[in-house]
Amino acid sequence: MRMMVNWNGRITPLEEACLPVFDHAYLYGDGLFEGIRIYNRNIFKLDPHLQRLYDGIRHLDIQGMIGYDELKQRVLETAEASGAQNAYIRLSVSRGTGIGLNPENIDQTPNVMIAITRLALYPPEMYETGLRVVTVSTRVMTPDSLDPRIKSIGRYVSNIQAKIEANRRGAGEGLMLNAQGYVAEATGDNLFIVKDGVLRTPHPSCGILKGITRATAIEIAQERGIPVVEDWLTLHDVYSADEAFLTGTAAEIIPMVELDHRPIGTGKPGEITEQIIAEFRQRVCEVGVRIGAGVR
Ligand SMILES: Cc1ncc(COP(=O)(O)O)c(C=O)c1O
Repeated sequence: MRMMVNWNGRITPLEEACLPVFDHAYLYGDGLFEGIRIYNRNIFKLDPHLQRLYDGIRHLDIQGMIGYDELKQRVLETAEASGAQNAYIRLSVSRGTGIGLNPENIDQTPNVMIAITRLALYPPEMYETGLRVVTVSTRVMTPDSLDPRIKSIGRYVSNIQAKIEANRRGAGEGLMLNAQGYVAEATGDNLFIVKDGVLRTPHPSCGILKGITRATAIEIAQERGIPVVEDWLTLHDVYSADEAFLTGTAAEIIPMVELDHRPIGTGKPGEITEQIIAEFRQRVCEVGVRIGAGVR
C-alpha cells in the first residue's frame, strides 16, 4: 500500500502533500474529522461516518462544503489510488483559509483532506490480555461549550491531555468523566460494561462521541439477544462490572480488564466481550463499501 493524500480533489503521495499555513483548522482547530477503516478493500460504515461529518458541518455552520456524493467519490478514488487492502482513512475538513478568528474575514472555502494511512492504537498483545485504564482528571467538554457529539478537531486538545495523563500513570488508556462526574468515554473510544448479562454504555447525553463502532457493538449484542441499556453510569458501575470493553474505529474493540487498579470481573477479558469481538472481526471483513465499485 502507498500512503496517499487527497487535498481538495488532488491526489498525491503523502510526502508531497502540503497545506496552507493559514488553514483555519491548523490555526484554531476550526474543523472536523473522521477516522474510517478499510478491511479487505471494503470501507467499513462509510455512510455513517460521512453522515456524522455532515451533521458536524451543519452544527459548526461551515459554509460551501462539497456535496456528499462528491466527497464519497473522493474517498473511494483516494483509497483506490493507494491500492490499500487494509488501512486507516483520515478525513479532515476545515472551515477555510485565513488568519483571524472571524470567519467573515477569511476565504470560507472548506479545505478537504483525505489521507490513506495506517494506525494501530494499542500493542497487539493488549487485545488478548486487555487494557489497564485509569480515570483521568481532564473532563469531557460540556455541550454548552462544545458538544462532544461533534468530532471537532479543536476538541481533541483535552483528549490529548487526558492521554498524556494516562501515559504518565503507566496506563493503557484514560477514562474521562463529564462535568457532573458521570462516566463519559476514553480518550478515543467508547466504553461498555457488562453486569448480570446486560450490556450498559453511557447515554449519548453523557458527553460522548456517538461512536460508529459503538453502534456496531450494540447491533451485534441485540442480534444475539443480549439486552443493551444506554444510561448514566458512575465509576461504581465500572468498578463493580463483570466485564468491560472499549470501542472505536482506531481501537476496534478491546477488552478492558482494570480500572484504577481494581480488576474488572475476573481481571481477564470476559465471555460476552470475546463473543462481541469475534463477531465484530468477522463483520468488518464482510460488509462495507467496496473500493472500485463507485458511489451507490
Ligand atoms: C472521543 C472519541 N470517542 C469515541 C470514539 C469512537 O468513535 P467511532 O467508533 O465512530 O470511531 C472516538 C473515535 O473516533 C473518539 O475520538
